[in-house]
Amino acid sequence: MRKALVIGNWKMNGLQARNAELVAAVASGVADETFARVDVGVCPPFIYLQAVAQQLDDTAIAVGAQNMSQHASGAYTGEVSAEMLVDAGCRLVILGHSERRSLFAETDADVAGKVNAALAAQLTPVVCVGETLQQREAGDAESVVSEQLLQALAGLGAEALEQVVVAYEPVWAIGTGLTASPEQAQEIHRALRKVLNGLSAEAADKMRILYGGSVNAANADALFAQPDIDGGLIGGASLKAEDFIAICRAAA
Ligand code: G3P
Repeated sequence: MRKALVIGNWKMNGLQARNAELVAAVASGVADETFARVDVGVCPPFIYLQAVAQQLDDTAIAVGAQNMSQHASGAYTGEVSAEMLVDAGCRLVILGHSERRSLFAETDADVAGKVNAALAAQLTPVVCVGETLQQREAGDAESVVSEQLLQALAGLGAEALEQVVVAYEPVWAIGTGLTASPEQAQEIHRALRKVLNGLSAEAADKMRILYGGSVNAANADALFAQPDIDGGLIGGASLKAEDFIAICRAAA
């Protein structure tokens, strides 16, 4: 009932020539009918968004940013607004990624502000939540991610919630090669769905919850087979066309 979604988060990787090659390979790799069952997106660094969006113009692949400002315009040196992203051809934006939270001190309140700004500009926010290893070992994984989600989505009605994508990315699984087992991931996804259900039962059923953290061509099938895992947010493996296409195929 929920259409699968696979998004590549390129992080701070790639230069023009390499991007063009990667995008061309992904576009032709996901062009056949099998992939009509999965929505695909790529999130390059800000400076390449427009070029990638232009290259993907006649495809179904969505382009997204990895972050944005919560402010609409003005004296915010170095920042990029939601409206600018839309103007550059974006349809998605990753918000509250754990690297933004830990390396750039983004708070839950910042993430909530950005979610609202994205929705106002008709951009799909991909809201990331995830616990650290320490929090998991203390038995707090579920409460940590539930609280992050509640804060990020505070005040949104059912209609707005339906536009939101959630991504569960356990911090200890990002870029480490340590993936959450399908059961571990499903347990948290189920808990997140319950939180969404508390906000709006109608929206919760429709909202996609992606898993992210060392997803690769070999483990994607088992993760995506879980009932509450609706696709993936892919880091390292999204930089290799062959791997990313295989992951998209696993979700289709
Ligand atoms: O946003 C994607 C992410 O943080 C996962 O990265 O490299 O573990 O797939 P990676």
